[in-house]
Amino acid sequence: MQSARPGQIIDNAPLSSQIDFSRFPMRVGTRSYHSREHQEREREQLWMKIWQIAGRAEEIPEAGDWMVHRIFDQSFVLVRGRDGVVRGFVNACRHRGNAFCEGKGRSARFTCPYHNWSYGLDGQLLAVAKPDFEGTVEEFVGNKEDLGLIRVPVEVFAGFVFINPDPDAAPLSEFLGDVADLLAPYHLEEMVPVGMNVRETIESNWKVVMDAFQEGYHVQGVHPELAGMTKLSRERCGFFGNHAVTVVPFGSPELADLGPEHEIEGYLSLPVANFPGFAEALPRLAELAADLRDKDGNLQLPEGVTPLSLLQRAVREILTAKGLDVSGLTDNQMSDYQYWLLFPNVFMQVRSGDATVITAEPHLSGDPNRSTWRVIALQWLPPEQREAQRTELTEIAEGDHFPYFLALEQDYVQMAIQQRGLRNSALEYQTLTRQEPKLAHFHAALERWYEHEPA
Ligand code: FES
Ligand SMILES: [Fe+2]
Repeated sequence: MQSARPGQIIDNAPLSSQIDFSRFPMRVGTRSYHSREHQEREREQLWMKIWQIAGRAEEIPEAGDWMVHRIFDQSFVLVRGRDGVVRGFVNACRHRGNAFCEGKGRSARFTCPYHNWSYGLDGQLLAVAKPDFEGTVEEFVGNKEDLGLIRVPVEVFAGFVFINPDPDAAPLSEFLGDVADLLAPYHLEEMVPVGMNVRETIESNWKVVMDAFQEGYHVQGVHPELAGMTKLSRERCGFFGNHAVTVVPFGSPELADLGPEHEIEGYLSLPVANFPGFAEALPRLAELAADLRDKDGNLQLPEGVTPLSLLQRAVREILTAKGLDVSGLTDNQMSDYQYWLLFPNVFMQVRSGDATVITAEPHLSGDPNRSTWRVIALQWLPPEQREAQRTELTEIAEGDHFPYFLALEQDYVQMAIQQRGLRNSALEYQTLTRQEPKLAHFHAALERWYEHEPA
């Protein structure tokens, strides 16, 4: 991509209302949300072939740190080698197939507890226990070189460890396409989970979760307290291969119409609990505004300067002063959240300095009416603060529940209710509207994967 600030493409993306919907199926079948038969197809056609997030790179920071990723009945070990590279292996011993790892941990080598074969962090078979056998390893079992752990493609991007169960998968960069360039300037790899880092079961299919975070249309019904802040008529939408993004410009035309004094006042009195990213920038905004007052105290904005541009400048200055390189981000990216769907199962809400990431996967029980979601609130912090403030993953046990903030709790409850409706066999399809462009695009992409692997 040529532009120094690739985010300009998204700042200038078409309004959602201008999207050509004629290429999308606006009826989305319901069987894929509850049928075990369909889930089997989805397993083969999608999950066994696609790049998926296994965790954050900072969860395995040191050589020998490892974690297990499971999808359906498949199990993989991701381990950081002595060279710092994260590698992935099938979690099955080459002797008689024992799953030698569970959960996460740190070890200098992997020793299978069944008969004590051991493997290096690079997957090579190191030693074979052969009690009471006098001959060589070769005589005992054959060539050690042929008995290393089975590799799977693993790559790290934006601080996330991606894995692909398909040994012949195309590189992650090819799968992400332009998305990699668009996300890189946020420096997600320098962010750490702060405050919320949770994995929990949800009583709905994983696609219900992804659908719920791809549209703002439900705000009026499910989050009425946020309704005033959501201006869907201003939403812009961009498609990048299987992936998609929407953005709603920060601020409101109504506030701007009241004049710059009111607009500045409006920003300065933002409820910082809802806008934590702005909390540190507001005092700087007040200073910038004070500098632009004439001797009578009236705000005199130079040509091209608006209250919103002052807020964006304040955010840029504060983040730069803390050490975050925001030079690759546009001014709008200082104030606007981008809402990404990284196909198939990553929702990401990202702005300069922070991001919230939600993934949903089929439930390990095999029940298509359930899924496992993970919610991570990421925050950019100076390097010396990251470890101290980093929030570890909390695994919520079956039957327990994490107390999310209000809007997320509302979504959590709502998703289970939708799943109950979708299970009715007389309901054959859902009907999408023109305020759900990302859903339309998502389901068109899913259809292609279910039918055949797209080129
Ligand atoms: S199955 Fe692993 S050592 Fe036998
Ligand atoms: Fe919601």
